[in-house]
Amino acid sequence: MLKGRNLIEPTNFSLEELDEIFRLANDIIADEKKYSKVCDGKLLASLFYEPSTRTKFSFDAAMYRLGGNVLGFSDPNTSSTAKGESLADTTVVVSNYVDIIVTRHPKEGTAKYMSKYSSVPVINAGDGGHQHPTQTLTDLLTIDYYKKTFNNLKIGVCGDLKFGRTIHSLVKAMARYENTEFVFISPEELKMPGYVKEEIEGKAKYSETNNLDEAIKDLDILYMSRVQRERFVSEEEYIRLKDYFILTKDKLNKGKSDLIVMHPLPRVNEISTDVDDDKRAVYFTQGKLGMYVRMALIMKLLGVEV
Ligand code: CP
Repeated sequence: MLKGRNLIEPTNFSLEELDEIFRLANDIIADEKKYSKVCDGKLLASLFYEPSTRTKFSFDAAMYRLGGNVLGFSDPNTSSTAKGESLADTTVVVSNYVDIIVTRHPKEGTAKYMSKYSSVPVINAGDGGHQHPTQTLTDLLTIDYYKKTFNNLKIGVCGDLKFGRTIHSLVKAMARYENTEFVFISPEELKMPGYVKEEIEGKAKYSETNNLDEAIKDLDILYMSRVQRERFVSEEEYIRLKDYFILTKDKLNKGKSDLIVMHPLPRVNEISTDVDDDKRAVYFTQGKLGMYVRMALIMKLLGVEV
């Protein structure tokens, strides 16, 4: 039963509950019109303390396409946060006005903290370098869409594995499926944090490398990510590392013909635009699937049906 629950990290939901969401998302994709009024009269608060394009717009679009409405901010300085109101008080107040809250914040743990003060479900839309569970729902629906399975997949995750919250969430989620193998591809300075590796120990195999050209050869999925400028203390260090990996058409051609290239986006330089028209590049479709999976998530947490 998902009604009334929070989504703070992807493992909050069982594999069966995730399947429920994906089944509904696929049904929405097949017949969106059927769902166009199911959230009539419902309100979603969108509280973004950090910039976003995909997550904010896809949640807003999801709620509008379900017949609901959206209120909120993408700049907290337009709210009473600027007058010093605490996050706890903001949460209590906003949850009295709406049916569901979606929030992004630069500090790890904020969504969980807000959920303690909210009288309605809270969805974590990204908390610092920690987790981004609705990106993971997006990623899983994309994997299901292209690979038709979650099992026996070799997944290369490439780029900023230290700060990449989408990667931390995806790795935790995919480690729950059968026979998952990860290749962590990063420069030494941006390696996967120990706590993430500990969490998947005994659940999934992994290896680490800084050689994308070699690693790409036998992957089923290559998950690229940008170097997270906003999490660096030193701008010099960011500049030194930002173009460490650039996926070009030549590099992609070392991969299998049924490889898929995913990216949570935004992209900076790490995928050359000449890759975009390759059939293996699925990142723009991935973004669109994110809207459908968020429609399904909102419906499930609100307990609304057709
Ligand atoms: N993938 C993702 O979270 O994108 P935004 O930062 O644009 O929301």
